[in-house]
Amino acid sequence: MPEKVIVAREIPEAGLRPLEAFDVTVLSERPPGREALMEAARGAGGLLTTVTEKVDAGVLDAAGEGLKVVANMAVGYDNVDVEAATGRGVVVTNTPGVLDETTADVAFMLLLAAARRLGEGERLVRAGEWEAWGPKMLTGPDVWGKRLGIVGFGGIGQAVARRARGFGMQVAYTARSPKEDAEHEVGARHLELDDLLRQSDFVSLHTPLTEETRHLIGARELDLMPETAVLVNTSRGPIVDEAALADALSERRIFAAGLDVYEEEPRVYPKLLGLENVVLAPHIGSASIETRDKMAGMAAENVRAVLSGEPAQNPVNL
Ligand code: GLV
Repeated sequence: MPEKVIVAREIPEAGLRPLEAFDVTVLSERPPGREALMEAARGAGGLLTTVTEKVDAGVLDAAGEGLKVVANMAVGYDNVDVEAATGRGVVVTNTPGVLDETTADVAFMLLLAAARRLGEGERLVRAGEWEAWGPKMLTGPDVWGKRLGIVGFGGIGQAVARRARGFGMQVAYTARSPKEDAEHEVGARHLELDDLLRQSDFVSLHTPLTEETRHLIGARELDLMPETAVLVNTSRGPIVDEAALADALSERRIFAAGLDVYEEEPRVYPKLLGLENVVLAPHIGSASIETRDKMAGMAAENVRAVLSGEPAQNPVNL
């Protein structure tokens, strides 16, 4: 009997092809919800999940002892309890590398949009309220030639740094340890977080969500930033304390923010919704057609490998 594989969400075709030899059930276009996921997972050998599924000990136990692999179609895997999976001998995989450039594009899109007030401008035009070109209308800080601080210098952070070079920006970064090769490649310098926040006109977050990075950017850190600064988050929502950010934005203690991720998606902290100086995107960092194909294919290939007794290409444990 072919092994049972549960694909939690409708994914691009490229993610179903590697699974043709298995008994595949695709759950739903919308997030299936915990009960439905647990029910469907019973007896599965593999789960292909996304950031909307919380895969904790309860879900792993519902799947049962036959579960061998949880392939998360994302580079981040904070939605999966990796320790619980490891304890049960379940391989957890992610999709590193393939989304770096695509997500860096969205970080830069938000950086430009927040600085140059694209959201406000669009709302004005669509409301029919744009009366004339104005010498002081919708002015914001230049991006080119400014200082960019990158928090977390992995694949996405480095791809953002390469883009910044094209804008003539000076780039600084934080990372647990200095990354000298990458530093040379993109001309970035290593700073401690507080110095980076004080010395950057733009700050872009690219660190995974862990217990150490939860609320890494809170009221204290926002106060270190210049009043003209712009914060961009395309990593994970809980890295920023949204209440503190909303206060800093409404009191103009920073100029603007561009967000793609939120503390409790899809809920957006209500105060942020009422602010003009924040650009709000619905977690679309990796949402290019090409990249979503690659992520789906990669996740599926990890499931196929483990269920065929081969090593996974992208394990984060075991
Ligand atoms: C998406 O958010 C990812 O982690 O790939």
